[in-house]
Amino acid sequence: GKGLAVFTSGGDSQGMNAAVRSVVRMGIYLGAKVYFIREGYQGMVDGGDNIEEANWSSVSSIIHKGGTIIGSARCMDFKQREGRLKAAFNLISRGITNLVVIGGDGSLTGANLFRQEWSSLLDELLKTNKITKDQREKYKYLHIAGMVGSIDNDFCGTDMTIGTDSALHRIIEAIDAIVSTAYSHQRTFIMEVMGRHCGFLAVYTALCTDATYSFICEDPAPLNWDQKLCEKLIEERKSGQRLNIIIVAEGAIDREGKPITAELVKKVVVDNLQQDTRITVLGHVQRGGSPSAFDRILGCRMGAEAVMALMEATPETEPCVVSLDGNQAVRLPLMECVRRTKAVSQAMADKNWDLAVQLRGRS
Ligand code: F6P
Repeated sequence: GKGLAVFTSGGDSQGMNAAVRSVVRMGIYLGAKVYFIREGYQGMVDGGDNIEEANWSSVSSIIHKGGTIIGSARCMDFKQREGRLKAAFNLISRGITNLVVIGGDGSLTGANLFRQEWSSLLDELLKTNKITKDQREKYKYLHIAGMVGSIDNDFCGTDMTIGTDSALHRIIEAIDAIVSTAYSHQRTFIMEVMGRHCGFLAVYTALCTDATYSFICEDPAPLNWDQKLCEKLIEERKSGQRLNIIIVAEGAIDREGKPITAELVKKVVVDNLQQDTRITVLGHVQRGGSPSAFDRILGCRMGAEAVMALMEATPETEPCVVSLDGNQAVRLPLMECVRRTKAVSQAMADKNWDLAVQLRGRS
């Protein structure tokens, strides 16, 4: 059978285990020899025990667990050709030429580069007698299927990244709890949520929790946001509301690109309105805990589709990313999606907010 390996890379997210489980079982079901690569690209570079054959039961009892049981890392070695050469050798020695990468856009870009270089890496391994001519011929094509695991929902091409729904559940549960105490004391709470370059979590949270205001990065607040915020808070309290919730994405900025932090928002509220105000930073709580039903199913579906894409691949097949489009699992050209994702960051860097919102909206 074909040699196939799965690994998780970059920040973890809930639902990654469901995806790993699905890859392993679908792979075995379709006759592949499936491997785990532990600790992301680092495990691929280091080899040894980090690359281990998986069986049906090695993924039992993981679908309900948060995080990734095979570990994840941000790897510097793989950014160097030397590291990628070691990784190629470790894969070839086990007969692995199919990779399923679960990670964010950086991890997917790394996989694409690896594939582009594959041929020259193999030539170098042959020249240095690390592999045989037969191996060079037998393993000449590397196939890649990606899926996006991230709580941020920051990838163009998929409606939902694996983990976003669970993070939203976690955030909303926390805010619902805050609301009861805020109500008792007539307080204003400023909640900082994750998503360093993407306001999705903040916007959806605001909609789900009846928040007064939200601050994000793609659509920065006008320069007189402090005045507008205060007017809104006064209006709400006048109409009888006992509490206010303000959502601040960790990457929130104003139109000049200056950060809007929870501390800054608190200062505005306290200095101008003397409201009893507290800050809650949810932090990594958002990335932990058990995955929602949606993320478990999403991980299962994406994993199965990724394996099918690899099994059907021909030498010409380009790397794909498995995405959710409506309710369909689809395969999209990996680099096209990465390019679109990077275009959003570029629009933000250029302070072209209209374009940033437009591109994000299309994602
Ligand atoms: O990309 C996921 C994410 O959780 C972001 O929302 C956050 O900014 C970042 O990762 C935190 O990274 P770290 O876990 O390295 O602190």
